Amino acid sequence: MSDNAAKLELNGTTYDLPVLKPTLGPDVLDIRKLYGEADVFTFDPGFTSTAACESAITFIDGDVGELLYRGYPIEQLADKSTHLEVCYLLLYGELPTSSQLADFTQRVTRHTMVHEQMHYFFRGFRRDAHPMATMVGVVGAMAAFYHDSTDINDPWQREVAAIRMIAKLPTIAAMAYKYSVGQPFVYPKNALSYSGNFLHMCFAVPAEDYVVSPVLEKAMDRIMMLHADHEQNASTSTVRLAGSSGANPFACIAAGIACLWGPAHGGANQAALEQLREIGTVDRIPEFIAKAKDKTSGIKLMGFGHRVYKNFDPRAKVMKESADEVLGLLGVENNPLLQVAKELERIALEDDYFISKKLYPNVDFYSGIILEAMGFPTAMFTPIFAISRTVGWISQWKEMIGEKNQKIGRPRQLYIGPAKRDYVDLRHR
Ligand code: ACO
Repeated sequence: MSDNAAKLELNGTTYDLPVLKPTLGPDVLDIRKLYGEADVFTFDPGFTSTAACESAITFIDGDVGELLYRGYPIEQLADKSTHLEVCYLLLYGELPTSSQLADFTQRVTRHTMVHEQMHYFFRGFRRDAHPMATMVGVVGAMAAFYHDSTDINDPWQREVAAIRMIAKLPTIAAMAYKYSVGQPFVYPKNALSYSGNFLHMCFAVPAEDYVVSPVLEKAMDRIMMLHADHEQNASTSTVRLAGSSGANPFACIAAGIACLWGPAHGGANQAALEQLREIGTVDRIPEFIAKAKDKTSGIKLMGFGHRVYKNFDPRAKVMKESADEVLGLLGVENNPLLQVAKELERIALEDDYFISKKLYPNVDFYSGIILEAMGFPTAMFTPIFAISRTVGWISQWKEMIGEKNQKIGRPRQLYIGPAKRDYVDLRHR
């Protein structure tokens, strides 16, 4: 893996740092022995220059705006594949044959219902709870309902836990939604597709039939595929770190959901739509852009910027096309929020501030508009992201647990607190 070494000179001694060669992407300096040999740590808050693991799942080239799942470009998958096929690809490394896909679909479908007792667990939450709060709690509680798949040392249990979470997350998110609007829970309908079933569980009511629109079903499936994995982002790293201690898979995914909720990560889709609403009309955009450029305002343009993409986010392109398609179908092409979004994007992309900082629309800029047009309240945007990302989290967790020399994650620090000092008795302080 390493054919040359970088040299680090420190206090008169030279240390060799092996250079690891990836299949794609920049070389990686191996500093694993540095502390042992040179008694120094490296400092990298936010992990901007640190590869924390080896992974064969997802590759991003942020400079050219490329995203590959197991080598396949996201645009091709979003155009030709389905979310369940993408789940198979991410989990097992290859696109399935038709019999493998049929078998996988059947395995997922058989697990879509949740334990009936879980309904009571849901009813313990306040009706006005944010569905992400409910999801963190319910997914964590899956360990109590499905303890026959919590032994991480048993590959069969790991597999069952993976299938259970991919199958049940849509049911759990739909239940959180139904509970928040005071409607009865809708059981899954296994004749429907993965995304069709999710729409059904959210929008059907016992009083009348609900027919899933094929365009909305396809758009939802695309949203799922586009969000399915994204390399070592904050929530995935959270899942890996939680899992590195040997925690059960349900607890790890609950930790990932908690991290995803933040507005700098998955919460940005809700924040982006709320911001578009706040702007309201095209004439207010310049005033708003000025605020986003002013550091003292504390305002950022939500749905813009990305830690890795410094050219464009390939998912945003697909999402923008989907927004046009869905709004066209629903006959709301003139949706004022879409007009504001498009104009905001146009103005920002011509502005020196955004150009010089390489800030482009990310996946969340347009996804909220589609979801709102479908009938989802903003609070459901991040739960839908969580459903989609579940397969990525699980694939990364399984990859980590399967590693031979897997270690607990334990970063070090640059200590800047007081030096050692003696305790001062209360009466002398
Ligand atoms: N609006 C205005 N200015 C911005 C924005 C923005 N959306 N994003 C970054 N900047 C500025 C920063 O203030 C900073 O300026 P400086 O160099 O003068 O200090 C510079 O651009 C670099 O930004 P950082 O925050 O250092 O970049 P980082 O890689 O740490 O953050 C992030 C990336 C968190 C995504 C950031 O761009 C952001 O907060 N965007 C808005 C929230 C958002 O849309 N998040 C979704 C991310 S995608 C996802 O999770 C699916």
